[in-house]
Amino acid sequence: MDLRKIEEEIKQEFHSDSTGHDIYHLKRVLNLALHIQEKEGGDKEVIAISALLHDIHRIIEKETGKYCTPKDSLETAKKILEKVRVEEEKIRKILHCIEFHEEYSFSKKGKTALDKETLILQDADNLDAMGAIGIARGFMFGGAHNIPMWLPDIAYERKFFDESEKDVSEIHHFYSKLLKLKDNMNTETAKKMALERHKFMEEFLKEFFDEWRGEK
Ligand SMILES: [Fe+2]
Ligand SMILES: [Fe+2]
Repeated sequence: MDLRKIEEEIKQEFHSDSTGHDIYHLKRVLNLALHIQEKEGGDKEVIAISALLHDIHRIIEKETGKYCTPKDSLETAKKILEKVRVEEEKIRKILHCIEFHEEYSFSKKGKTALDKETLILQDADNLDAMGAIGIARGFMFGGAHNIPMWLPDIAYERKFFDESEKDVSEIHHFYSKLLKLKDNMNTETAKKMALERHKFMEEFLKEFFDEWRGEK
């Protein structure tokens, strides 16, 4: 497995991303996914390659200015996989992981993927949306999409999370998605890893609101 070849193929496109989905997000997800795989099992090669290729849909979204699902990126991912000569059976599995990596128990559709590789990719991707990194990425995403930091006069409970619908402010996004990720983890390893990141986000929000009210 030569991950450098795959990195070469995507480096250019992800280099200039400013929405929190840059090449370093892919590398962090790769490291998280490998760490989880070591404890939980699953096909290491499928997991690693999927981690590097999972967010091509974000680049298409930026280029076209229109919402784009992971499924819309499969053709591009397939071309890269064929170019670097990944075997057919693995390509099929990798494309499956990419297609289903954005399923959430708190969305209307819920989760449907059951294979270990997809579940590990979901966990790794979601861990990178939590904690200090998650907070930083969230505000990057907000800035890139002209989403305000916080609108205190708008109630913040959305019934279901839907990736295609942006939250009205970044703080709203904590309540619609980020704070729900802890209970959305699939593997025991990720469940444990999520605890500290969750706690840090709660502390951040407390501090944020204290400062917002001028009480600190
Ligand atoms: Fe994604
Ligand atoms: Fe991602």
